[in-house]
Amino acid sequence: ITNTREREGYIKALSPWQVEGEAATADFIRQELTAALGAMLGVEAGPVGDYTHNSLAHPVARLLVATPEESAVIRSLALGDALTRVGQEGYLIKTTRYRDKPITIVTANTHAGLLYGTFKLLQLLQTGQAVSNLAIESAPATKLRVLNHWDNLDRYVERGYAGESIWNWHKLPHYKSQRYYDYARANASIGINGVVLNNVNADPLILTPQYLVKVKALADIFRPYGIKVYLSVKFSSPNLIGGLPTSDPLDKNVQAWWQAKANEIYSLIPDFGGFLVKANSEGQPGPGDFGRSHAQGANMLADALAPHGGNVMWRAFVYNVEANVERSKQAYNEFKPLDGTFRQNVLVQVKNGPIDFQPREPFSPLFGAMPKTPLMMEFQITQEYLGFSTHLVYLGPLYEEVLKADTYAKGAGSTVAKVVDGSLYGHGITGMAGVANIGSDRNWTGHIFGQANWYVFGQLAWNPEVSTKQIADDWIRMTLTRDDKAVNTIRAMMMASRETAVNYMTPLGLHHIMGWGHHYGPAPWIGEQKPDWMREDWTSVYYHSANATGLGKDRTASGSNVIAQYHAPLRQAYSDPKTTPTELLLWFHHLPWHYELANGNSLWHELVARYYLGAQAVAEMAKTWDGLEANIPPQLFKQVQMALAIQTQEAAWWRDACVLYFQSYSKQSLPEGFAKPKHS
Ligand code: GCU
Repeated sequence: ITNTREREGYIKALSPWQVEGEAATADFIRQELTAALGAMLGVEAGPVGDYTHNSLAHPVARLLVATPEESAVIRSLALGDALTRVGQEGYLIKTTRYRDKPITIVTANTHAGLLYGTFKLLQLLQTGQAVSNLAIESAPATKLRVLNHWDNLDRYVERGYAGESIWNWHKLPHYKSQRYYDYARANASIGINGVVLNNVNADPLILTPQYLVKVKALADIFRPYGIKVYLSVKFSSPNLIGGLPTSDPLDKNVQAWWQAKANEIYSLIPDFGGFLVKANSEGQPGPGDFGRSHAQGANMLADALAPHGGNVMWRAFVYNVEANVERSKQAYNEFKPLDGTFRQNVLVQVKNGPIDFQPREPFSPLFGAMPKTPLMMEFQITQEYLGFSTHLVYLGPLYEEVLKADTYAKGAGSTVAKVVDGSLYGHGITGMAGVANIGSDRNWTGHIFGQANWYVFGQLAWNPEVSTKQIADDWIRMTLTRDDKAVNTIRAMMMASRETAVNYMTPLGLHHIMGWGHHYGPAPWIGEQKPDWMREDWTSVYYHSANATGLGKDRTASGSNVIAQYHAPLRQAYSDPKTTPTELLLWFHHLPWHYELANGNSLWHELVARYYLGAQAVAEMAKTWDGLEANIPPQLFKQVQMALAIQTQEAAWWRDACVLYFQSYSKQSLPEGFAKPKHS
């Protein structure tokens, strides 16, 4: 902190500081404060003053971090029932007086709460906020705030764009990389309290004793940071590594195998979080292979974990082409009938949209359809469909749009956020998962702005109601610059970046027209000449349905009738293009090229206009960034500048490819004012 007045104000308010308690977490908090206050304020490294002797009579600290259990000073303060309100993981940060002297306290019922409170206090300093009169009470809205690593055991990260996996399975358990500690610190600083270490397309070897000792090593490192370890498991593990002839969930030997496996895991990792399961989806094995339901599969695992307090996160991402039902309907069809049949320790984990992490989708109708089941949100932080780690796309507005969406499940105001945080149906167990964008790149996420997506995920899992604009602001101040003008410019850029990506990739409700398999760049033509082996629901033409008369997928009653899965009044609104939000038009409707939109443009005109707008906005973003050179650390400036140059080219590539492709159906010339695509 370079502003002397500000720095002195902070020093006066917070130094000397003291952390009471002997637990490992208290040590980490001491380390964090030593490093952070040393770096930011230049205060002596380490705590000053001795609280252990004579503390009640002569407290010297201005900042005290402790649980009431470990601190007589905290116990002596009148905190009312604030600590009851913040629960297990929440915290209080308060400016008060002790023996007539001002004191700032960070307190909580648990060490995890202390850690979160400490990071919050440091965030206040990093973002330049006043700390002289604090009264912050905060508790997480969801219980399980979990990163899902799609990391394979050979360190390949499925849909990872930031280098290889940070888990070095080869050197574990003995080699404990500093990265693991820094990863835990970063997560704890945003309230993340769980990590699924391995890919949902799970390797059964993760459950072998050889790997479990490695998992234990990571769990031991993460524990003091309040982070539990979970594993993705392959449903056929009893057969593949257990030597059993079957993995049928109703088979007694299979059940016994999972129970023994759970016992083995908990003997190594007493606070193990539980299992994440992708079953009967994209070729993965599952209970369906034995004629059993998702609930029967999930419940068998839940029973094995229950005695130890573990949970099952059972994914609802299921579809198969044989079902001959439109893909976006399948999860609802399979899961809704199972509502009320899952064990108490099962959460069904639902992707935010009904297809697959597209730049824009409506929310999954499952969020309004399973009142008796805790539904866990699954967001994707890694930018599989959003330009990998090359494109600057701040995902806050995407997450916020989904969380604020109204399902109308119990009338107006039944937002997705309220389903997920359990408040709509009173579920005790709740959660949010984010598919991680983390790898061994020096900056963790490939693109430095990818860090903002990790950050905003954590903040929203803690509080889904908070504004993602504010989160962007905080992140910029902590990461890039404290210059107000520059902060405003960058924040505006970030906030617009998702809509910009939608415009140059998939405007007006288009979706899944990315390159086949890798999902990078435009390929709306995939499926035009479909070889026999290619799944229809993995082609682009399946989703955009372009033809000579028009464009878009008919999901109304005249088509696949997906709208029936939404509650009134959404169902009615989506049934008519006039009352469907323009942003989702082609998601729900197949419309004629000359269809007139509310703004008077024809569909063709608006489509072209949006592609051009998107590409133009990226070029402007690059120009804006150029103007920020003086405010950004040189290396970061240059990296982002280079990435934006690529993004500018690729947005134009997207625009040209899509406009030219769809033009081959619309047979119309470009509306006036739009230059002919260069790549034609
Ligand atoms: C997408 C993604 C896959 C992933 C799958 C899933 O289809 O492309 O790589 O395995 O989602 O979420 O299971």
